[in-house]
Amino acid sequence: MNAASPEPQAVYLCALDDIPDGGALEIPARQAGAPGVVVLRRGDEAWAYRNVCPHFSIPLNYEPNTFWAYDAELLMCAHHSAMFRFEDGQCVDGPCQGAALTPVVIRIAQRKIFNSD
Ligand code: FES
Repeated sequence: MNAASPEPQAVYLCALDDIPDGGALEIPARQAGAPGVVVLRRGDEAWAYRNVCPHFSIPLNYEPNTFWAYDAELLMCAHHSAMFRFEDGQCVDGPCQGAALTPVVIRIAQRKIFNSD
């Protein structure tokens, strides 16, 4: 196996280019395992988290695959406006400040994103 290939048990989530640059893409639970995953992108970088807000343990989005992101830096929960940093999922503003999203380990190979949890 070369360094650009995902490990055999990795689960394909999406292509990097499926995610709007500076935005987010929902990977439903049937593909990513419950409770689903949100993948964030800035340029060639991406981060993934379980789609569960630590405030009320509900999905971060209200409508399917509709997320609010700001300046390619922050993801906002649709319910009570908690703001989470792309890089580490840390809540930096809102009702659960100091809590964090649950990270999902991903690998990017040939602009494809795989979950390797
Ligand atoms: S459920 Fe996300 S901020 Fe309240």
